[in-house]
Amino acid sequence: MKKNKIVVAYSGGLDTSVMVKWLHDKYDAEIITVTGNLGQKDEIENIEQKAIATGASKAYVVNLQKEFIEDYAWKALKGGALYEGEYPLATAVGRPLLAKLMVDIAKKENANIIAHGCTGKGNDQVRFEVGMKTLAPDIDIIAPLREWEFKSREEEILYAQKHNIPTSVNLEKPYSIDENLWGIATECGILEDTEEVPPDDAFQMTVNPKDAPNEAETIKITFEKGIPVKLDGIEMSGQQIVASLNDIGGKHGIGRFDIIENRVVGIKSREVYEAPAAHILHTAHIQLEKLTMDKDTFRYKQNASNTYANLIYDGFWFTPLFEGLTAFFNSIQERVSGDIVLELYKGNLTVLSRTSENSLYSQELATYTEEDAFNHKDAEGFINLLSLPHQVITKHTSKTYGLKSLVD
Ligand code: ARG
Repeated sequence: MKKNKIVVAYSGGLDTSVMVKWLHDKYDAEIITVTGNLGQKDEIENIEQKAIATGASKAYVVNLQKEFIEDYAWKALKGGALYEGEYPLATAVGRPLLAKLMVDIAKKENANIIAHGCTGKGNDQVRFEVGMKTLAPDIDIIAPLREWEFKSREEEILYAQKHNIPTSVNLEKPYSIDENLWGIATECGILEDTEEVPPDDAFQMTVNPKDAPNEAETIKITFEKGIPVKLDGIEMSGQQIVASLNDIGGKHGIGRFDIIENRVVGIKSREVYEAPAAHILHTAHIQLEKLTMDKDTFRYKQNASNTYANLIYDGFWFTPLFEGLTAFFNSIQERVSGDIVLELYKGNLTVLSRTSENSLYSQELATYTEEDAFNHKDAEGFINLLSLPHQVITKHTSKTYGLKSLVD
């Protein structure tokens, strides 16, 4: 009988493969690996056999693509969650789901420890551990990368070779990559130098816009209550829509981001992201909101989206604030239904048309033709009252707003 039972978050990559053997020996532990399939293509094939060959007594591979899109990515979409205004949060949205999977399996297996392969200076350790500690405060967590003796990938490879651990490491391509249906994050290697342009081999889901087809492509996305339900008029599951948009967008070089971001732990990092589907859907979704949402709600929502993105980035998915904001976003999505037509062309995404039964756009009010139904006279009193407090300030003070007279 082993002293410990450890459930390991296992990707099949070098770190987590070495971890299985290392934890087994160091903690005198029975190892159960857990892999959540969120649509990543790398390493997922034969992962069960690989885990067993590496020394695990049992290997779970759970297909969570449906849950990932419907219960996680759609929340981020409805919430307009773009971290620091750009990053669609693919990795960050996946972590709470994986944390939940780890906890559920640890409980089922009566394991006393959960281990993960996140590094000590990334965001993912925070997201994993905050999530797991929230869901199961009594389970211990080990992060071998924060405590083991290996100082480089080369040392890990030597250890793997010594212990016959199967790995498929490509030292030529020294990127750290995290992939799921909502996007791919790529860092390390030459990308660490912010003066360097990301080389083509840093991308896998999208072509260089320069190499994209010379013909533009038009797509129509139909939303119901903030969620995409049809692509080009054909009803599809969320996963199908996301996978199709990743293909189409990727082909046209849409959804590439090269970003410097502020990590939770305080350092800045440079990462390239590919998220064609997420980028297309966010772009279309916000256009539909602009058509169907009243001014006050839309303006308020923009601030809430920023908070929501920060909560997701920082790992606070299972929190009352996140839950409350989710309810808010769901409520204001009630009317966000309709069609958005977009054109994809050499890395550019252009909105061509917007249609909704719930449109608040009134051509009668907006028009500059004689059909105009807007009462221009109303504007006079409106502006007078709107500016009244500021008129009073000017009358009662000598404020100049830092401005000199523009004439002598
Ligand atoms: N910086 C992104 C985030 O914190 C992605 C992290 C994982 N990136 C990676 N290349 N392994 O959400």
